[in-house]
Amino acid sequence: MEKSAKIYIAGHRGMVGSAIHRKLVKEGYSNIITRTSAELDLRDQQAVTDFFELEKPEYVFLAAAKVGGIVANNTYRADFLYENLAIQNNVIHQAYKTDVKKLMFLGSSCIYPKLAPQPLKEDYLLTGLLEETNEPYAIAKIAGIKMCDAYRAQYDSNFISVMPTNLYGYNDNYHPQNSHVLPALIRKFHEAKINSSPEVVVWGSGSPMREFLFADDLADACYFLMESYNEPNLINIGTGVDLTIKDLALLIKKVVGFEGDLKFDSTKPDGTPRKLMDVSKLHGLGWKHQIDLEEGIQLAYHDFLAKYV
Ligand SMILES: NC(=O)c1ccc[n+]([C@@H]2O[C@H](COP(=O)([O-])OP(=O)(O)OC[C@H]3O[C@@H](n4cnc5c(N)ncnc54)[C@H](OP(=O)(O)O)[C@@H]3O)[C@@H](O)[C@H]2O)c1
Repeated sequence: MEKSAKIYIAGHRGMVGSAIHRKLVKEGYSNIITRTSAELDLRDQQAVTDFFELEKPEYVFLAAAKVGGIVANNTYRADFLYENLAIQNNVIHQAYKTDVKKLMFLGSSCIYPKLAPQPLKEDYLLTGLLEETNEPYAIAKIAGIKMCDAYRAQYDSNFISVMPTNLYGYNDNYHPQNSHVLPALIRKFHEAKINSSPEVVVWGSGSPMREFLFADDLADACYFLMESYNEPNLINIGTGVDLTIKDLALLIKKVVGFEGDLKFDSTKPDGTPRKLMDVSKLHGLGWKHQIDLEEGIQLAYHDFLAKYV
């Protein structure tokens, strides 16, 4: 991408989109276009058509999506399916219609089959049943990946799909019901510390294993792949390292400085037992993450304190 290239970041206020925005600014890009969802509702086909015809971006990062944790995914099943399909249909199709040079679509590691072997290789997609709680979200995301590949096959569009692991970082969602596990735990431990609560109760058994990547590392990988990767199918982005939810909770407890007890509520669902990315394809291309988990949690906690306290 030329430094003067016109680049549209869809979802630039979100955790991923804002990290991609920071990365592009840092790299010297000056012709970045953005719209909030209030200015441009990407579910609106006509509005998206008009926007692409007017702006004619050369490159697109599609980081706009309806995103949430287990409860939100399971409760708003129709919204997760409809909104994500609508956003990606409109953006990917208009990118094709207006000759966008390259588009990056963001999938997610939670769309691999629930019981896929670990670590998750790219070719495990669609080899088994999905996690029931986020099946609608996963179906939409899988359709987005297939759409990129279909437009590449039929129209020679350079549309690529990346598969990030669980993310956390600046501008994360700390909503009590709609957030992912890591930001939810930061909030829980922080509130317990402020209220001098004797204990924090964490959902599930604590035994599932998860991998986490700081969103600025993801943005670095997205930029790296936008510059160097032009293939169908998807490519995993992660650290290749995981830990139990219990160890994650202990690390957050330490960073936040909560001194009470940690308990687990095994009556609540655990979700997928393990979710670790096989990142050998990405490492083979020469990219590795830089921010380790403890450092990343410290950065995220400071961002939480600055925004919400
Ligand atoms: N968070 C994770 O752990 C994770 C992991 C793997 C993959 N991903 C993927 O990364 C992408 C971004 O996730 P995120 O965590 O950055 O989400 P996020 O923080 O919730 O941000 C999503 C963004 O999408 C925009 N958006 C939502 N609906 C829209 C609509 N109808 N029209 C226009 N814009 C709309 C929002 O714009 P406004 O702010 O203007 O409303 C928001 O900025 C998603 O594709 C997600 O699947 C995320």
